[in-house]
Amino acid sequence: AENGYDLWLRYKKIEDPTYLNLYRKSIAGIHINAISPTLLVAKKELEMGLSGLLGAPIKEVGAQTDNALIAGTPSSSPVIKSFLEKEKIKTGQEGFAIYSQTINNKKLILIAAETDLGVLYGVFHFLKLLQSHQSIQSLSTISIPKIQRRILNHWDNLNRSVERGYAGISIWNWHTLPDYIDKRYIDYARANASIGINGTVLTNVNASSLVLTDPYLEKVKALADVFRPYGIRVYLTAKFSAPVEIGRLKTADPLNPEVIEWWKHLCDKIYKMIPDFGGFLIKANSEGQPGPQGYGRTHADGANMFADILAPHGGIVMWRAFVYDARVQRRGEHFEEGKKDVAGESIASADRFKQAYLEFKPLDGKFKENVLIQVKNGPIDFQPREPFSPLFGAMPNTQLMAEFQITQEYLGQATHLVYQAPLYKECLDADTYAYGRGSTVAKITDGSLKKHKISAIAGVANIGNDINWTGHLFGQANWYAFGRLAWDHTLSSETIAEEWIRQTFGNNPKVLQPIQQIMMASREAAVNYMTPLGLHHIMGTGHHYGPAPWVENAGRADWNPVYYHKADKKGLGFDRTATGSDALSQYAPEVRKQWENMKTCNIEYILWFHHVPWNYTLSTGRSLWDELCFRYYSGADTVKWMQDIWTTVKAYIDEERYNHVRQLLNIQHKEAKWWRNACLLYFQTFSELPIPSHYEAPD
Ligand code: GCU
Repeated sequence: AENGYDLWLRYKKIEDPTYLNLYRKSIAGIHINAISPTLLVAKKELEMGLSGLLGAPIKEVGAQTDNALIAGTPSSSPVIKSFLEKEKIKTGQEGFAIYSQTINNKKLILIAAETDLGVLYGVFHFLKLLQSHQSIQSLSTISIPKIQRRILNHWDNLNRSVERGYAGISIWNWHTLPDYIDKRYIDYARANASIGINGTVLTNVNASSLVLTDPYLEKVKALADVFRPYGIRVYLTAKFSAPVEIGRLKTADPLNPEVIEWWKHLCDKIYKMIPDFGGFLIKANSEGQPGPQGYGRTHADGANMFADILAPHGGIVMWRAFVYDARVQRRGEHFEEGKKDVAGESIASADRFKQAYLEFKPLDGKFKENVLIQVKNGPIDFQPREPFSPLFGAMPNTQLMAEFQITQEYLGQATHLVYQAPLYKECLDADTYAYGRGSTVAKITDGSLKKHKISAIAGVANIGNDINWTGHLFGQANWYAFGRLAWDHTLSSETIAEEWIRQTFGNNPKVLQPIQQIMMASREAAVNYMTPLGLHHIMGTGHHYGPAPWVENAGRADWNPVYYHKADKKGLGFDRTATGSDALSQYAPEVRKQWENMKTCNIEYILWFHHVPWNYTLSTGRSLWDELCFRYYSGADTVKWMQDIWTTVKAYIDEERYNHVRQLLNIQHKEAKWWRNACLLYFQTFSELPIPSHYEAPD
């Protein structure tokens, strides 16, 4: 059945006879000396892939055979060894080289790498070339990842519910682990390895300490054993209060010797079971999670305790900067910076936007060298469009890693088709100007600007046990795109979309072009029908699905949509200039100058930073109100257009996947109109201006 289970790893026989014959002629057989578990899975993948794509079992041949495909490392293959030496090619820990070579009058294709994992990545790359009808004639590719640790964050709970998961329940079946190894775990590892993901945090950031107990560690070990050949390390979330909850200590104070001893003992145990355990991801003092501040200690005290314990084992700490203390901004109270609240904790000003910077910037340079501070894409929370977090560039002596959300919490969840590569790119390509022009978020994340030792990037997974893994088939593209950008952030969204479509739906231009158009338009469409012009956080509170700009009593001021859009008779938007919350002062002068002026601020961000009068004329020549109407209507219209375009691929793809997407697009269109109508009718109660008559009436 065409249910999407095989993701982009579809190895169906190539239909086009030109390519089929060409590939068959160019690959007489394979030669891999599988001397390690990783080379063994590489060989299996190559056999499975080539046999499927070429429509006949692939032969094993000697290394001297004409048109042999040879894959290996210097230790597994003399041919590879002399090739790498002769060409002086360095592939590093994970890179690979794919070359056409003539050696002793034999034409050969070489997949060469210094490490076994590099070979596996090269194998997946090679199979992709065939899947997407690329030439394999004069190959000369070298590919090396720009970021070292490319990690999925699963927000999966031990009862298999998934926080912000929309694709079924968790794929980790804790009940049958460790003895039962679901085939899904292997396919999960294959899929991730195929796009270069090399780490997975198995558990939710809102952590349960239970996963750190022996029975669960056995299960974690079983998964780590499955993933190891695919180069995927396992990480866990560590609940800060675990020493109290499962260790029966009276405190979790990170400076307390007993607490340190407890964690040390635990880590020794973990590394005995899982020698390549990656380390911990920790959410502390955020949204009710325990943390060092509860003991009068800082984020640095907390992170460094773990860092010291993990360092001898080669583990790392990913400490999240997603903080906004519950006591801050209570009922909209305005706290001065530096002022203390009743609990004696330092307090940010009344703009949640500013808090991460206020808490973390003073700690720059205080973190141990195996600590990374994990900064969310967007100072608020994974909105359809956010300016980059001002923390990027603000902590030159700290390793920062970007966190993206692949699961579409605020983007229509698994019902709306939203291709997120353009969103990730917008953040990665953003120039912080922190160390001069070109100090992009990408270059801060990959560590190249400050020559940091460790670099990492995280994506909150959208994976569940739905048959197609991600709920919406196009959610697969976001998983794919995250992996590809983590490997190489210079790839364009278009290129990644094209790769994914060719592998997922085939190479027919009548499929490729329309689907690529749909994907490329989809994110801007969602921004327009949900939160155009820099509106943010106006989704239904709690579940974050659908519009609710009118909510003003969500329990906390900074959960209220009205807190973010600030609509009134005068206008719309959050003044974050010096006359408002002054969040803009957290950016480098170049950025601040551009955004603090309504005239030069990008129209996409304008309501993030300004309270704009309803009749103010924007750069488009339209008033704010008219532009708002224009964008809401155009967003919904684009979804209608996406539906129309989708019908054109009907004849060229299978019915099952066609109908799956068609039905979801129908819902998306209905809901885009719901968003448009709800928001415009609500904002109209403030603007008191008419919806331009050339638009259909909102109902
Ligand atoms: C969002 C999300 C929460 C999640 C939190 C986090 O606020 O709604 O479910 O726990 O982010 O990233 O920690």
